[in-house]
Amino acid sequence: MNIGIIGAAAVGETLAAECIRAGHEVLLSNRRGPASLTSLIHRLGHKAKAGTLEQAAACNLVILAIPWVSVAQALPALPKWEGRILIDATNTFLNYLPDYKVADLGDDSGSEIIARLAPDARVVKAFNTLPIAGFFTGAPDGHRRVAFLAGDDAQAKACVTELIKSLGLAPIDLGPLASGGRQMHLGGVFNGAELLKPDER
Ligand SMILES: NC(=O)c1ccc[n+]([C@@H]2O[C@H](COP(=O)([O-])OP(=O)(O)OC[C@H]3O[C@@H](n4cnc5c(N)ncnc54)[C@H](OP(=O)(O)O)[C@@H]3O)[C@@H](O)[C@H]2O)c1
Repeated sequence: MNIGIIGAAAVGETLAAECIRAGHEVLLSNRRGPASLTSLIHRLGHKAKAGTLEQAAACNLVILAIPWVSVAQALPALPKWEGRILIDATNTFLNYLPDYKVADLGDDSGSEIIARLAPDARVVKAFNTLPIAGFFTGAPDGHRRVAFLAGDDAQAKACVTELIKSLGLAPIDLGPLASGGRQMHLGGVFNGAELLKPDER
């Protein structure tokens, strides 16, 4: 797969490295522009490229890995989505540690807000439920670590399921954004849950 990544900090870099290890190609982007990513691209090797936010968003599969507070400004500035898949890896923090604070979204949820900010994107929630390194710390023999996903489009979820499997993880589909997605958000029952599944390969 050719995967666009918006945000190149812990989540963007870790997922880029794991995607490359699995044989995918990645195009990383951030707010400061491609020149700021030169040393990261060098570390990641020839399957990684740096690009603009627009170039990353133009990939068929795009991972959103930016702070929640940037989402409302970043998404409307991107080109029309036209059905491309947007993996929402964000958590709804207003501040990170040490004085961390979570956004009060009332009856709404982060990925439903993202779906409205990116009309025509097929949004799939994934990779937000653990500190990102926690997905890739290995598993006991014969087991895989679980990565949850949720979304409203079956074909998009099938594609993200294949991506998750290719990264050596066991996908569990929790259903639509309005139910499963909410269970993955901060405070949801699956946020912070570390599960293992027997390896069925
Ligand atoms: N860290 C984890 O273990 C973890 C795990 C699961 C989920 N998450 C969630 O994943 C998201 C990313 O977390 P993170 O820890 O990797 O990094 P982060 O500190 O939340 O995000 C920093 C990255 O976002 C980019 N960025 C910020 N505003 C932007 C904008 N308006 N347009 C484009 N890019 C922008 C920054 O680019 P510049 O450097 O150019 O400003 C930088 O590459 C967050 O929502 C976080 O809550 C994090």
